[in-house]
Amino acid sequence: MKPALRGILVVGTDTGVGKTFVAAALCRALRQAGRPVAGLKPYESGCRPTAKDAAALEREAQSGLPLSLRCPFRYRAAIAPAIAAEQEGRVDPIGAAAKIVRRVGKDYVLIVESAGGLASPVSKSATNLDLAVALGLPCLLIGRNALGTLSQVSLAVAALRAREVPILGVVLSRGAGPRDPSQATNVEWARRLTQVRRTFALPRIGVAQAARLLSAELQPNLD
Ligand SMILES: Nc1ncnc2c1ncn2[C@@H]1O[C@H](COP(=O)(O)OP(=O)(O)OP(=O)(O)O)[C@@H](O)[C@H]1O
Ligand SMILES: [Mg+2]
Repeated sequence: MKPALRGILVVGTDTGVGKTFVAAALCRALRQAGRPVAGLKPYESGCRPTAKDAAALEREAQSGLPLSLRCPFRYRAAIAPAIAAEQEGRVDPIGAAAKIVRRVGKDYVLIVESAGGLASPVSKSATNLDLAVALGLPCLLIGRNALGTLSQVSLAVAALRAREVPILGVVLSRGAGPRDPSQATNVEWARRLTQVRRTFALPRIGVAQAARLLSAELQPNLD
């Protein structure tokens, strides 16, 4: 049997919901706690030429690992990785990504960011959800704290449960979007609909504050 990895897979209901923001804050919290942490983004598209998410994670994790391990599959087009790979005539299977993640996981606690929404395709016949199954890491699901999130969060939680992926919690993150009345009730209703007890809001804050808030919410899982 493959040894269990230590860490968290950060997945999202959609693109642009706050996965990198949360993953970077988690890297910061673990590093400040003196843990050897690696922030990985196995698939990243929109690299023109920089892999910005991978760089943001490394800024906080300071693992010193090469980009080839932190972000092995990079694409120029800002489109789902599977489609970008197809356009470039490449095949980058999740087995290869999982192998690299497992290798890094021998020496580091892992914070892995998925690419786009949970059901987006990352390679020819695999989605982020398939990657979650392959890695077996507990997932932290990030959604937008905005109108529309309840359906997205409910569907994503159902999909994770159908594949028996452990759910660490649900974070409703407040990005740059405008205020809307649903923000007052989204957390309570997401919890009611999904029965994920650890569902909480992340206000629009800085990364240092987010690291403190996430540490408090996710203890003892960050120990
Ligand atoms: N709670 C928050 N406080 C402050 N800024 C936030 C918060 N949540 C998200 N953001 C900001 O919202 C924007 C989108 O978030 P982010 O880049 O983390 O999304 P993502 O899910 O990683 O997107 P992608 O699918 O492209 O990887 C970023 O500018 C990020 O810094
Ligand atoms: Mg991101």
